[in-house]
Amino acid sequence: MAIPTSRTKERGRIILNKDLCNDCGLCVSVCKDFSLTIENGKVKQSDKPLFGCLACGHCMMICPQKAITIEGRCTSTDDLIDIPSKEEAASYKSMLNLLYRRRSIREFKDVPVESELIDKILEAAQTAPMGLPPSDVHVLVFDSKEKVSAFAEDFCHYLENMKWFVSKWFLTIMRPIWGKANTELFKGFVRPCVYAYTDYMMKGENIVNYDAPVALYFYATPYSDPADPLIAATYAMLAAESLGLGTCFNGAVHPFIQNGKVARLFREKYGIKHKSREGIFLLIGYPKVKYTASIKRTFASIDRI
Ligand SMILES: Cc1cc2nc3c(=O)[nH]c(=O)nc-3n(C[C@H](O)[C@H](O)[C@H](O)COP(=O)(O)O)c2cc1C
Repeated sequence: MAIPTSRTKERGRIILNKDLCNDCGLCVSVCKDFSLTIENGKVKQSDKPLFGCLACGHCMMICPQKAITIEGRCTSTDDLIDIPSKEEAASYKSMLNLLYRRRSIREFKDVPVESELIDKILEAAQTAPMGLPPSDVHVLVFDSKEKVSAFAEDFCHYLENMKWFVSKWFLTIMRPIWGKANTELFKGFVRPCVYAYTDYMMKGENIVNYDAPVALYFYATPYSDPADPLIAATYAMLAAESLGLGTCFNGAVHPFIQNGKVARLFREKYGIKHKSREGIFLLIGYPKVKYTASIKRTFASIDRI
């Protein structure tokens, strides 16, 4: 048995070098698959793992003796990197300052984003945790304003044929299935959004992705946890902010390109390899606007138990 993903269905292979191992048991304590066990003071591979090694790499990363190697499931010792010192890492204060400085930016300078910066953003985003390793997140990179704008225009053409999705008759049929909140959201937000996107595009204004110089589409596969692409996109957003770029999520495209043949054809046209329960576009560029204040936001509730 191994946990299946779109990238691999094999188990990770645990290679334990007994010459180096000092049986400290740290690897056993961090392995939540119970692939490793300690018997009579000796570390060994268990014959009763929960799923079979996921190749999360924790045992390999915690071993002070470098006695464990994980291979398979898209993982190897080549992936290991030195941990940066605490002094080099962001403090809570500097992280909070970054968060307070961030705003959703919808007005971008007509300046391209250097491809090295896109690489840096992607490098940071790939450090995101995932439901199950290896990550099943895919990223589609639109690396110029022209490509981003052309996509928005094409999407608006596509939406013209999807308006039935927000029609009165469809919402009436879906009311008992979707429930009250969804119906209210469709009437109050999704329907006006669809009409605004297409109407503004007709007038020559792109309010889908605001002609951003870069768009990254994070999506996943049916195997993945739906949260994975959203978490990765959030990491990318913060990385972009740290590089002096402005960002804005665009969540409205993804749901429209999931179901049905027309949606599949649209996805295929852009090389989108999977339909995905969740997915999101991240728009990136140099901000044209500068905010003079930040704002404290609140959750709907925080209940301490
Ligand atoms: C999941 C998600 C989807 C979003 N989708 C859009 C979108 O389609 N278009 C847009 O202009 N902003 C979008 N936003 C940005 C929000 O509108 C924005 O975060 C919110 O207004 C608060 O502003 P702030 O990000 O500056 O704090 C999205 C944000 C999130 C988290």
